[in-house]
Amino acid sequence: MSGRPAAAPPARHRIEIDGGPSFEVGPEEDALLRGALRAGLPFPYECSVGGCGTCRFELLDGAMASLWDEAPGLSERERRRGKRLACQSRPQGDCRIRVRLGAGEASPAAAPRRMEAVLASRRAITADMVELGFAMPQPPAFLPGQYALLFPAGVPGARAYSMSNLDGQDGLWRFIVRKTPAGRGSGALCDHLPVGARLEIDGPFGHAWLRPTPRDVVCVAGGSGLGPMLSVARGVLAGGGARRLHFFLGLRTQAELGAAAEIDALDRDRVAATVVLSDPQASPAWPGARGFVHAEVERALAAPLDRFDFYFAGPPPMIDAMQELLMIRHRVPFDQIHFDRFV
Ligand SMILES: Cc1cc2nc3c(=O)[nH]c(=O)nc-3n(C[C@H](O)[C@H](O)[C@H](O)COP(=O)(O)OP(=O)(O)OC[C@H]3O[C@@H](n4cnc5c(N)ncnc54)[C@H](O)[C@@H]3O)c2cc1C
Ligand code: FES
Repeated sequence: MSGRPAAAPPARHRIEIDGGPSFEVGPEEDALLRGALRAGLPFPYECSVGGCGTCRFELLDGAMASLWDEAPGLSERERRRGKRLACQSRPQGDCRIRVRLGAGEASPAAAPRRMEAVLASRRAITADMVELGFAMPQPPAFLPGQYALLFPAGVPGARAYSMSNLDGQDGLWRFIVRKTPAGRGSGALCDHLPVGARLEIDGPFGHAWLRPTPRDVVCVAGGSGLGPMLSVARGVLAGGGARRLHFFLGLRTQAELGAAAEIDALDRDRVAATVVLSDPQASPAWPGARGFVHAEVERALAAPLDRFDFYFAGPPPMIDAMQELLMIRHRVPFDQIHFDRFV
């Protein structure tokens, strides 16, 4: 027997929320936000990647490292006033913070877990879109419409990608990733990750998960927003019942129509699909809808729109246009509108 005393486990950091609960994060935790969510707290957040500013908080006491000083989710003025982003801050010891916890609906989503995944499959969808399937050891369940954080090696920060399949079908988490011009994360995933490669994945995250209501569902995907909308659509169809689905997919040109084939594979008896191309000059022979996808949603669906639940995902201008259409022009109740802004 060795006479050496066993090494003490590394100290956990205690985070006290001013006027609220306290929680602990392990020294290995990469960000305050992730630690709070793992502890089951309704910490406010949307994107998890520094872009939206929803996870703002103030540090009252203690030390936090910044993961990304220039994160666009904070303005210079907010930084000067001492605001920080919980998704880009890492506790260095015990801390006291000020933040307003969410008081919204209780979420049935599982707490996120960080896992080492193995790329089990890859399939090209278009010239710049690929479906990646990852095997993970005993992952937590995810809901249709949720997303995960992927950590490609050598790339600063995490990248958010939404699961495109349903939980528990073949044990994989599938993602549809669009390669963006000069994008470091999407480039690494699309071009440099062979089947069999290992990758850190954290999840599930997100609030735009499928709600079990009796209303028909409208899914609107802008480009790479296809992934989460396929997951929501598959959830609606797997739920049985009589809910019908209207699926709108906005693409730029006919060259991207491989993405529309993913919708064709859904149960066509319950799905009405519309593909809208935004660059008519590049696709002069296109016989279908043209223009912006939100405009086609308004044109194709008969009012009143509050008879539907709406799910949408894609680039910020599309999300803004959909919000304006639903919240301001058609007064659809907020609890029927669920979206992810791909910041
Ligand atoms: C909730 C959500 C779900 C999404 N789902 C999908 C999806 O299903 N499919 C899809 O194709 N895209 C999705 N996106 C977009 C995706 O996360 C990436 O923004 C996109 O692929 C561009 O990443 P990039 O690496 O190619 O570009 P880059 O320009 O290299 O990186 C842009 C992204 O990386 C983050 N970032 C950049 N630099 C740093 C840094 N130094 N430290 C930390 N973070 C940094 C930024 O926040 C930004 O999100 C989603 C985005 C969000 C927010
Ligand atoms: S959740 Fe932190 S900036 Fe979006």
